[in-house]
Amino acid sequence: MYFQTIDEIKKRVVDCNVKICVIGVGTIGLPLATFLAKKGFKVNGLDISQRRVDQINNATVIYEYQDMLRDVTKNKNLLATTDPENALNDVEVIFVCVPTPLNKNNEMDIVNLNDVAKRISPFLKKGMILIFESSVAIGTTKQISETIESLTNLKFGDDLGLAYCPERYNPTPMKKQTQDTEFNIHSRGENFTVDKISRVVGGINEKSTEIAQLFYSQFITTGVTKLSSIEAAEATKLLENIFRDVNIALVNELAKIFPKFGLDVFEIINAAKTKPFAFMPHFPGAGVGGECIPVDTWYLISQAEELGIDTKLMKVARSVNDSMPDHVVSMLEDELNKIGKKLESSQVTILGLCYKKNIPDVRLSPTFPLIEKLTSKNVNTIVCDPVYEKINSPVKLTPIIDSFKKSDAILLITDHDDFQNLNFEKISTEMNTKIVIDGRNFFNHDNLDKFGFTYRAIGKPE
Ligand SMILES: NC(=O)c1ccc[n+]([C@@H]2O[C@H](COP(=O)([O-])OP(=O)(O)OC[C@H]3O[C@@H](n4cnc5c(N)ncnc54)[C@H](O)[C@@H]3O)[C@@H](O)[C@H]2O)c1
Repeated sequence: MYFQTIDEIKKRVVDCNVKICVIGVGTIGLPLATFLAKKGFKVNGLDISQRRVDQINNATVIYEYQDMLRDVTKNKNLLATTDPENALNDVEVIFVCVPTPLNKNNEMDIVNLNDVAKRISPFLKKGMILIFESSVAIGTTKQISETIESLTNLKFGDDLGLAYCPERYNPTPMKKQTQDTEFNIHSRGENFTVDKISRVVGGINEKSTEIAQLFYSQFITTGVTKLSSIEAAEATKLLENIFRDVNIALVNELAKIFPKFGLDVFEIINAAKTKPFAFMPHFPGAGVGGECIPVDTWYLISQAEELGIDTKLMKVARSVNDSMPDHVVSMLEDELNKIGKKLESSQVTILGLCYKKNIPDVRLSPTFPLIEKLTSKNVNTIVCDPVYEKINSPVKLTPIIDSFKKSDAILLITDHDDFQNLNFEKISTEMNTKIVIDGRNFFNHDNLDKFGFTYRAIGKPE
């Protein structure tokens, strides 16, 4: 297809007369594959996980677009497999959405992308177009393309098209389960579904950029902007996430300062929000997790440092955000000390293992360093996460009902809906001492007061 004229390509794309493969059909890849298949393209999903492949083919993946998935698996527009030869049969466009986590040195781990290069290279043919979506350090897409070139006799630009389109997926909150094994998906209304989130694309040349724009424009209704290069698109993704990391770090720092003046940081942020321009609210919390915000900041820090640039601001942002679990521990210790108790040998109930509200994802969750810190102080921790519990958590979790007995304090780290209607009257009779440290400005203070709890919240005055 790459060798056809743009008009010919346009006709084929509009007619959905192109077979597509999406590699890595996880959190990012599956919604993309689903939307392309729903549009009418024949889509193969290639994944290394047989379990994931089975879940997709049986349409049992629990996510926002499960109904769409049922339709597109039923009409055979989407078919997942672990076999690259099958997956790439007759395919002309390949999207790559595999994970790009950090390694131990906080640098981008390229292992999954390299694995993709090796697995698909034997089946690549002249005229194909590869579009990468995985979040990466600047220059990674080109680096992988060179690996592919070294494994094939093909050259990007001459024989194959190449583009990068950073994903902007907003993981879907899920309501508390209504059956034993199922989540009920929150309706997010009309906002920020995959088709409503605008995108940017950059290609190795104008033709690649244009083709990528054409594909996304088939299901994105809010605009697909062409950029000057692949690197510009990679850097755009980094800016988006670093912007959030830095701004969250700012309000996290203010959340430590303002309460000392008797001020509630949430009141101040909401007040600043009334300014109609040049302010965008961010809110403090018990920590920043997920393989998105923290990871992208580290990618750029390590790249800049390789170039001899000292990235003061980004490093401080990371360190402020990483300090929030410690801040929770020091608030807890303060409150225990006030009633003559020591942190050591206490028992605390931690609410939330997931890094984000109602999302069954624990990657880089601040709860892990929190547990580590508390365990190092000989604190007995009980961890409760009804959202993660439902997907067979490898971490030992305690059901809500058994979580509070003999505890000295509750630490709310993730503001899952399931924690909204806790019966504090009953819980107050089960706990040793009644302390609540609220890491997400979540609980109703008055309700806790009523049952004799001492309540402290990040960013709020004592
Ligand atoms: N989840 C998010 O909200 C989010 C946000 C921003 C950026 N991202 C980025 O999107 C990319 C994908 O992340 P994700 O959250 O979808 O990950 P994920 O773990 O949810 O899904 C990745 C899928 O890829 C599969 N996979 C792994 N290695 C593979 C390989 N070598 N070949 C084929 N399949 C392979 C896995 O089995 C899994 O099904 C990453 O670069 C991530 O940083 C994700």
